[in-house]
Amino acid sequence: MQQKEILDLVIDRTRLAARVTQLAREVEIWRKGDPLVAVCILKGGFLFFADLVRQLKEPLQVEFMRAASYGQSTDSCGTVSLSLEVQSDLSDKRVLVVEDIVDTGLSMQVVLDHLRRRQPRDMALCTLISKTSRRASQVPIDFAGFEISDGFLVGYGLDYAERYRGLPDICELRFE
Ligand code: IMP
Ligand code: MG
Repeated sequence: MQQKEILDLVIDRTRLAARVTQLAREVEIWRKGDPLVAVCILKGGFLFFADLVRQLKEPLQVEFMRAASYGQSTDSCGTVSLSLEVQSDLSDKRVLVVEDIVDTGLSMQVVLDHLRRRQPRDMALCTLISKTSRRASQVPIDFAGFEISDGFLVGYGLDYAERYRGLPDICELRFE
């Protein structure tokens, strides 16, 4: 039998916008006026990234990477595949990795290890959401928009089986 999907509002668009503005300020303090390479982790990070970079100063370069760990379920399958790769030279650059959610931390561990091999001068991780209850890898999170303990979130870029990414607010998805 098909289960009914219920969406409960968790973070509305007004709170999202206000927090993104604060995060942009924190990032500006950290970068100290240096040129910045902002790396969007696709797909989930695309709306957060778009809103964040519009509040960052020049010089700013944008790059995209694809990291996938979730299939058609709400549980991580434990393997992380990187597909799209950052094309430009990162050596001696200040790099900001922009992610939607750090959950177990395994995806970010793979992404950060991978980027570190490109020898950036400095690298920071900015995640919209830090989900704390299932953390398995202690990746250093430099900037976190919101902390939640658990629950499967959709909207504002986040999906469930490729649906709900376009919702303007973040909601928790439940099944009934
Ligand atoms: P991790 O490797 O367990 O940290 O998983 C991180 C990735 O899984 C995130 O980048 C998201 O793309 C996805 N993910 C984790 N939790 C959620 C969620 O609640 N909703 C949607 N995607 C999620
Ligand atoms: Mg992601």
